[in-house]
Amino acid sequence: MSHYQVEGNDPCDWTDWESAGKTRGGPCGRAAGSWERYEEDAEAAAALGANAFRFSVSWSRVEPRRGEFDEAALERYARLVVRLDALGLEPVVTLLHYTHPRWFHDETPWTSTASVDAFGRFSARTARALGPKARCWTVLNEPLVLVLGGYLDGQVPPGIASARDAARALDHLLAAHEAAAAEIRAAIPGAAIGVAHNMMGFAPERARNPFDRALVRVAGRFYNQALLDAFGEGRWSAYLPPFTRLAGRRPGLPASLDFFGVNYYSRLHLRFLGDGGRIGSFAYRDPHGRGLTDNGWEVVPEAFPPLLRQAASLGKPLFVTENGLADAADTKRAAFLEAHVGVLQAAEVEGLPVHGYLHWSLVDNYEWLDGWEPRFGLLE
Ligand code: FCB
Repeated sequence: MSHYQVEGNDPCDWTDWESAGKTRGGPCGRAAGSWERYEEDAEAAAALGANAFRFSVSWSRVEPRRGEFDEAALERYARLVVRLDALGLEPVVTLLHYTHPRWFHDETPWTSTASVDAFGRFSARTARALGPKARCWTVLNEPLVLVLGGYLDGQVPPGIASARDAARALDHLLAAHEAAAAEIRAAIPGAAIGVAHNMMGFAPERARNPFDRALVRVAGRFYNQALLDAFGEGRWSAYLPPFTRLAGRRPGLPASLDFFGVNYYSRLHLRFLGDGGRIGSFAYRDPHGRGLTDNGWEVVPEAFPPLLRQAASLGKPLFVTENGLADAADTKRAAFLEAHVGVLQAAEVEGLPVHGYLHWSLVDNYEWLDGWEPRFGLLE
């Protein structure tokens, strides 16, 4: 789960983004009511047989004004951790799942080094409040997706479209991961630090077309591999045609990571020279006739194993930190789950270090730009 998508009434940048009419899905409002009902969610997860529970902390609740921490908000998350522990659910804590406090973009934006200090302070306070029962941390959720949507495309907060800002933001996000890792380890000896990285399958729209195939290689290097390079080698260079390069160096990054989280959903089909004179276009297709999910994504477990192998090349333990589908009528869900869990069984036999699987999601929730329509929950 992520805080914004389930808690409701989060006083953050996304709420303002929705009020400004910049989403397709209308307001999030009270969401799934989890701010009041997290314990019920946890009990439902335990009843389904889960042994772990991923959630994220709302930075805007915890630090509503810069430097002012709300002890009651921290206490609320600490209570959840105690309950999870009592239910035999390993807490998996995310510190940044797309949203920011209202002051953040004006006062300490990701394009400035001040962001790193601010995030470090928030991480330290949160780790101390949650304590040693919170052992497993996916500090950042999908940092590259945030940079693409928020700094290159301008589709999500803070709504910037600048390659230069995107490169800076990614560098500072990775520095912030490093700072948070140090703070969490200081507060919780033995904590395991990870990241949740969205990985996509890519296929050429025309199987034999050399340009489509070249595009697939470029997309894979940019979207899937660059972050693995960052955490594996402490440097990254990601090229997105025609003019974007996100490059940087953070030598301390590899040592700040204990495990790597893969968020896997689907595959995109790429075509060189897309509509409107663009260098390429991408679309979901359904070559196997399985039917697309409710939000139009291909169901393709076959694209999952190569991505797990690619992630395993990092040499760290792997977790699947998200995987699931939008299926309101529940007609595809069972087969989807069986096929993807089957991939994990095969991965285990193959010797890939996959240590856990977190399904997205436990309950139906607010799906960002798409609002309430896509239903990812195991529970309605
Ligand atoms: C992931 C996000 C998560 C949810 C799923 C469907 O990229 O991390 O919050 O929106 O997609």
